[in-house]
Amino acid sequence: MHNFIYHNPTKVIFGKNTITQLRNELPTDAKVLVLYGGGSIKHNGVYEQVCQALDGVEWGEFAGIEPNPEYDTLMQAVTLIKQQGFTYLLAVGGGSVIDGVKFIAAAAHFEGEPWDILAKQAKVESALPLGCVLTLPATGSETNIASVVNRRALGKKLSFLSEHVRPQFAVLDPEVTYSLPERQLANGVVDAFVHVIEQYLTYPVNATVQDRFAEAILQNLLDIGPTVFNKDYATRANLMWNATQALNGLIGVGVPQDWSTHMIGHELTALYGLDHAVTLAIVLPSMLRHTKAAKREKLLQYAQRVWHLDLVDEEQAIEQAIANTEAFFRQMGMLTRLSEHDINDDAVRLVPRKLMENGMFKFGERGELTPKDAETVIRNAM
Ligand code: NZQ
Ligand code: ZN
Repeated sequence: MHNFIYHNPTKVIFGKNTITQLRNELPTDAKVLVLYGGGSIKHNGVYEQVCQALDGVEWGEFAGIEPNPEYDTLMQAVTLIKQQGFTYLLAVGGGSVIDGVKFIAAAAHFEGEPWDILAKQAKVESALPLGCVLTLPATGSETNIASVVNRRALGKKLSFLSEHVRPQFAVLDPEVTYSLPERQLANGVVDAFVHVIEQYLTYPVNATVQDRFAEAILQNLLDIGPTVFNKDYATRANLMWNATQALNGLIGVGVPQDWSTHMIGHELTALYGLDHAVTLAIVLPSMLRHTKAAKREKLLQYAQRVWHLDLVDEEQAIEQAIANTEAFFRQMGMLTRLSEHDINDDAVRLVPRKLMENGMFKFGERGELTPKDAETVIRNAM
């Protein structure tokens, strides 16, 4: 196991009717800006619950953060914050709203061109404090330091990491997921599953807690998947907590990480507007087939412990584990081929080009993958 520091100070407030506890988490003198997306919170009662919880607090609001949050929209919020002197940000939504608010928090304090935070990885020295109410279990953004921002005008979807934008608290009420469309529930299961895979399916470093915990989350998600569309509290509660645990940092400490499926996936979203999880369902099976020699030991472990396959014929067990993974995504309603989304062969040329434009020349757990490998992965995912 590699050396690591583990510190995740986000306070999680989990369970039914927990939005009521919001006010206790806000500084008493805060001027709060509540930020949300396209209006789902106005239809499912979350907005009213937040308003009630903020009774007595000085607050304003900013609506319209899009799925794959748009840079230009986020910069409008930065302007509003500067004009009106908000001191605390409350994100109410899914990964896009939370990621968007993280960027806004950093940009509001940033001296210089905020786009550099994403495009040049300019260091974030400070940010406005933020908390969140999660409405879509998927990304893990609610307790992590990552943010992904889209800029359609440039065809770029870029990310940054900063401890300064980790939410101070996250309210996780599983009942708010009852209004989610099936498409978003499927996205949540698949995104969380692939987050675990990106931190687990690399090469062994004898990290037994991380491995067994990762395998538990994968198995939980396989159990949750088929019944996730039912409005059942236990299922939704488990989805929410598994998705948070999948990317709150714990299973990733002290182990090699991959993230190449995500990098390629972000380019597919930037190019074609596919949902984030949809891109992962397309890329991951092809990526695993392409990297199965480098990932051999962990693929065998995955085959045995997660899919309960016997390893008499190792090659066949690996093939079967990858086939089962793809079948699981399809069971969740995902199409796992680019051609099924009417995307033509141009993607084979465009994705590697975009990776290079964004400075991504080496990736994967050993830094051995290049845009040329991405070309093969995309070709095999057609
Ligand atoms: O905008 P509203 O009206 O709220 O509707 C949203 C949106 O249309 C809707 N929704 C959310 N909660 C709902 C609801 N509809 C009904 N009931 C509810 N309770 O769902 C739609 C999708 O929301 P979005 O936030 O875009 O989805 P998700 O949570 O999957 O976030 C995806 C974004 O997160 C990034 C992705 O790249 C993508 O931009 N990621 C962030 C990560 C991180 N910060 O660690 C890691 C991930 O790998 C990922 O890259
Ligand atoms: Zn993801």
